[in-house]
Amino acid sequence: MRVCLLTGGGDAPGLNAAVRAFVHVATRRSLLVCASRFGFEGLLGREQVVPLRIDDVRGILHRGGSILGCSTQSNPFAPRSSDMLPGEAVETLRRRLAELAIDGLVLAGGDGTMAIAARLGELGIQCVGIPKTIDGDLGGTDRTCGIDTAVQTATNAIDALHTTAEAHRRVLIVEVMGRNAGWIALRAGIAGGADAVLVPEIPYDVARVVDKVRERDELGLRFSIVVVGEGAMPTGGGTSEVEHSQAGQPARLGGAGERLASELRGAGLPHEARVTVLGHLQRGGTPTAADRLLATRFGAHAAELCADGRFGRMVSLQGDGVGSTPIAEACRAVARLSPDHELVRCARAIGIELGAAQGAGA
Ligand code: F6P
Repeated sequence: MRVCLLTGGGDAPGLNAAVRAFVHVATRRSLLVCASRFGFEGLLGREQVVPLRIDDVRGILHRGGSILGCSTQSNPFAPRSSDMLPGEAVETLRRRLAELAIDGLVLAGGDGTMAIAARLGELGIQCVGIPKTIDGDLGGTDRTCGIDTAVQTATNAIDALHTTAEAHRRVLIVEVMGRNAGWIALRAGIAGGADAVLVPEIPYDVARVVDKVRERDELGLRFSIVVVGEGAMPTGGGTSEVEHSQAGQPARLGGAGERLASELRGAGLPHEARVTVLGHLQRGGTPTAADRLLATRFGAHAAELCADGRFGRMVSLQGDGVGSTPIAEACRAVARLSPDHELVRCARAIGIELGAAQGAGA
């Protein structure tokens, strides 16, 4: 059996560990492995499809990014380039799979890639999924690879910002990624000791953030750190976007931190409010041990699923154990914070301001 591996969507720390483990186990289970470079671009003929052997995956465990390359613009159901219509792209994909004698695809990706896998499955193209996204918003699994590193990076940044915030008596706002889910913001906010954390799932009232800063002032703590998820929004408002969504592509979020800063300035606080946007730093760099370990377990299990002919499934973490979930099920369940999530309750309990009263939120 020949399987083709690709890393779809944006990169996430740990992808190389998953690729490495997949190739090791697949090779031992006598599968032939190839890879489509830059997401589906290889399979659509705009990039290469290359063989992948154990020698090709040596020395990559600790590296961020993906040795296969990633693309957020190679959805065969919504090709962006004008040289291919949607139907044509799917036909090209079918033809290439037949020419290359590929029996199944292994797609490491987030919600977008899993949605593609589900549609390909309906067309009879068999897929196995490996869940990766720093956002942690993919259903069907308790954890995706990549988020641990992103949270660590954001936590390191919050630690560093504390000292300068204090020295200048500033309100420092840290804008983190996560799209419409607040997992990175809340985890890093708790781990880094933020004073307020604003997440997309709980629209915020800026007056509560102002009160928190004033309360700290009265205690003689004349600086504050506010973590803002990029998808956070004020009550009655919408997300801040630098590019609106287009066919097959989600909106590009950005500006939530600056919006909050101007709201705080407007509230007449005696502090300068300044913004740090962490951006792609959260996706880059060396994966944490936890991400490497999870990705290795995911990659190894994905190879077992292929060798056993169990396509249509996404590997997943359920509690402490690695297993698998039907891809269609993973696509249906979006993982977002609920207002009564244990992390939300913990944040409130230790005095972190979430911008809304208990129980408020999506
Ligand atoms: O989904 C991962 C993610 O990093 C989001 O947190 C972020 O909104 C988005 O991708 C950024 O994507 P891009 O790098 O394509 O702009």
